[in-house]
Amino acid sequence: MWKLACLFKTFIFLYMIQEISSHFEFTNFKCKSDDEKFAEIEICQLKSINRTYKYAYLKVKLHQTPITKVKVNLALFKRFNGYRPFMYNITFDACRFLKNIYTGSTDLIIKYFYQFIATTSNMNHTCPYDHDIIVVLPINVMDNQFSKVLPFPEGDYMVGTHWFANDIRRAALKLYGTLS
Ligand SMILES: *[C@@H]1O[C@H](CO)[C@@H](O)[C@H](O)[C@H]1NC(C)=O
Ligand SMILES: *[C@@H]1O[C@H](CO)[C@@H](O)[C@H](O)[C@H]1NC(C)=O
Ligand SMILES: *[C@@H]1O[C@H](CO)[C@@H](O)[C@H](O)[C@H]1NC(C)=O
Repeated sequence: MWKLACLFKTFIFLYMIQEISSHFEFTNFKCKSDDEKFAEIEICQLKSINRTYKYAYLKVKLHQTPITKVKVNLALFKRFNGYRPFMYNITFDACRFLKNIYTGSTDLIIKYFYQFIATTSNMNHTCPYDHDIIVVLPINVMDNQFSKVLPFPEGDYMVGTHWFANDIRRAALKLYGTLS
């Protein structure tokens, strides 16, 4: 009898874990070029094909290729009373990161954020970049990264990124979403 009660409790517990696992939804996507002669934002959109197939879509035309020096500043914001910096604000040399990624000598936090676009963008190769940039951010990847790989508390989030080429800021992107 006691064993049965114990088993029952385990089931309830597992059920609750599943119940409380949260889900991510996109709410907005904003992209701004600092220099249209360098990087022209062609598409910056949230697409919703159906209830389960949604993604953020970015297409950037690069007018001065090849680009051999890329720096990224990425910061996470969470809405309390307005969006406030939350946990991460990192700057890294993207070319060096991509060169080292398969040797295992990369920063785990950068790698975590890279996982968002690793298999769905055409940036997933070593520098230089000599083509237009296409990034697709599928909702299921966002969901998995935010609620399972690294479970974040529920709330409204914004991921801000600043993109630098040759140490000059060229573009700023802001992706908004809710984890509930
Ligand atoms: C949603 O759209 C995708 C892509 O067109 C399709 O593969 C999938 O079956 C659709 N899902 C539903 C529930 O309609
Ligand atoms: C890079 O992204 C493309 C999609 O743009 C994908 O087909 C390919 O498998 C990815 N390569 C790696 C090494 O993840
Ligand atoms: C990261 O922090 C710096 C210094 O406070 C700030 O200037 C920058 O805008 C932040 N990065 C992002 C992507 O918001």
